[in-house]
Amino acid sequence: MTVIDGKQTAADIKAEIAATVAAAVAAGRRAPHLAAILVGHDGGSETYVANKIKACEACGFRSSLIRFESTDTEPLSEGTLLDAIRTLNADPDVDGFIVQLPLPSHIDEQKIIEAIDPAKDVDGFHPVNVGRHAIGLPSFRPATPAGIVELLKRYNIPTAGRHAVIIGRSNIVGKPLATMLAQKGVDATVTLCHSRTRNLAEICRRADILVAALGRPAFVTADMVADGAVVIDVGTTRVADASRKSGFRLSGDVDYNAVAPKCSFITPVPGGVGPMTIAMLMANTLQAWNKR
Ligand code: GUN
Repeated sequence: MTVIDGKQTAADIKAEIAATVAAAVAAGRRAPHLAAILVGHDGGSETYVANKIKACEACGFRSSLIRFESTDTEPLSEGTLLDAIRTLNADPDVDGFIVQLPLPSHIDEQKIIEAIDPAKDVDGFHPVNVGRHAIGLPSFRPATPAGIVELLKRYNIPTAGRHAVIIGRSNIVGKPLATMLAQKGVDATVTLCHSRTRNLAEICRRADILVAALGRPAFVTADMVADGAVVIDVGTTRVADASRKSGFRLSGDVDYNAVAPKCSFITPVPGGVGPMTIAMLMANTLQAWNKR
């Protein structure tokens, strides 16, 4: 059984990007510039955005953080957020930007995503990028599924003709991952499962590659996993843990201790898919900068 080291793989990717950027900057080009919009103070979002900014430093990118307060008594208006997006769309000095999700419930997330210039949409969430990706055209690919495919590639895990089972059909992980794994050149046979799937455990047992992306701690138990399967855990739910300074720990969607002994490869939480998401966002930003 091999524990996939997402942290090291992400560090390798960031070092590769940093080398490319350093060479370009030495030749007189300005460094890539990623901007992030963060609304409110969601604990998870604060951590993710801080890590994205840190990753920019590691890659030699410039970064900007645009913060908005939003409270029940003084909610941020959608118009203010749309204005900020229009400003970033028009700013020639910004190569790409993201709006950290989730947004407060009074803001229409889809409307916000659709306001982003597809050429700067390094999250790959705009329908233009989703559509282009679906038909195999060059596009920005959502970072988490792209990170999973990159891990499989870098660990030489075969995908062609293999049965990949994905649990969870979110727009940012499950659905785009199904598209990526089925793409020509990756060539997996994909089953996309969700809350209405019947006989889920039985389907999971037929997976060569099992991806858990539903956000339910320890949902995947040993009886759902075939001997020798590759298990990818996308879960990052905060669960209370009084023994930690923060008061919580991150729990994956896989019952790791019971499942790991059955696997050929498994990703841990933390240190598996999470760091890869950020590395692939950096790769997308490099791609946006390259195209300009
Ligand atoms: N929230 C959870 N994952 C993501 C992500 O990849 N990008 C953004 N913008 N928000 C998120």
